Amino acid sequence: MRVLSPLFSVKKKVSESPLANALIGVVGSKGGVGATTVCVNLATSLAQNLAPDGGFTTLVDANFHQPDAALQLSCQPKHTISEILARAHSLEPQVIEACKNAVGANSGLHLITPAIDGSAGTTYNLSDLVSCLPSLKASSSTTVVDLPRHLDRSLVSLFDQCDIILLVVEPNISSIAATTRWLAAFRDLEYASEKILLVANRMGSKARLLEQQLLSTFSRNSIAILPNAFRAMETAQIDGLPVLSLLPKDAYSKAMRELTDKAILNLVFLRQQRATLLQEEE
Ligand SMILES: Nc1ncnc2c1ncn2[C@@H]1O[C@H](COP(=O)(O)OP(=O)(O)OP(=O)(O)O)[C@@H](O)[C@H]1O
Ligand SMILES: [Mg+2]
Repeated sequence: MRVLSPLFSVKKKVSESPLANALIGVVGSKGGVGATTVCVNLATSLAQNLAPDGGFTTLVDANFHQPDAALQLSCQPKHTISEILARAHSLEPQVIEACKNAVGANSGLHLITPAIDGSAGTTYNLSDLVSCLPSLKASSSTTVVDLPRHLDRSLVSLFDQCDIILLVVEPNISSIAATTRWLAAFRDLEYASEKILLVANRMGSKARLLEQQLLSTFSRNSIAILPNAFRAMETAQIDGLPVLSLLPKDAYSKAMRELTDKAILNLVFLRQQRATLLQEEE
């Protein structure tokens, strides 16, 4: 049974839901493993769940030089993240709202993106986003961030602000090795294990041995599985829509809804744990 059904069947206010002001970061273990695709489909899935209760989901593309989310969502931004970053030190809520580009009609999903030409990459650094993220997070029911992969202090500051981090891995040797390194970094940062959700993408293909290796290497981690969905991805790219909204019955969409439920369960657990700690401190 879907986790969301009991949580949302009672018309709870968005402010009471485990998704209230949640920040979910998505990072690829390596280039091209499907991180942006996970981002746009996860944000779509969250938006579908929150919209009936009047909630909004915002997807922030933090890849200033290579923004892809807008392409996958057929969104031609009227305003870009540069307008937010330029005002980082005195950021007004109206500026954030103006920079949210509505995706589709009444989808409950907004996109904050760098200009598609990558020009933000020569003017702004990730450090500029660090100070803006709390205001962005406060301005939406739920925020999903498509994170870059260069591990530096700024990326760590963004990771720190995330409630949970989805780390996308594929069944190939270099992605498995990279994931092992990322997990070591997260351990050094002393993140709770529930903060990290591994996403094994493109599973169920012919690379059986590598898939087994992936699953056994990360058997102690919380992991969600996404199938190899070449045809669905091709259709989605041609139509410029996420698989989840275009092909809701596809295996990828089903797995994405299960992934969403898993992420929410982790959020619920972490929030309850934090509440217990606070109570003990009082
Ligand atoms: N489960 C899947 N099955 C088949 N193709 C997929 C799957 N997930 C993603 N893809 C395809 O893989 C390609 C790369 O995806 P995407 O751009 O999301 O990767 P990325 O990790 O964000 O890359 P980058 O490192 O450039 O940011 C795209 O063409 C996408 O359609
Ligand atoms: Mg990407």
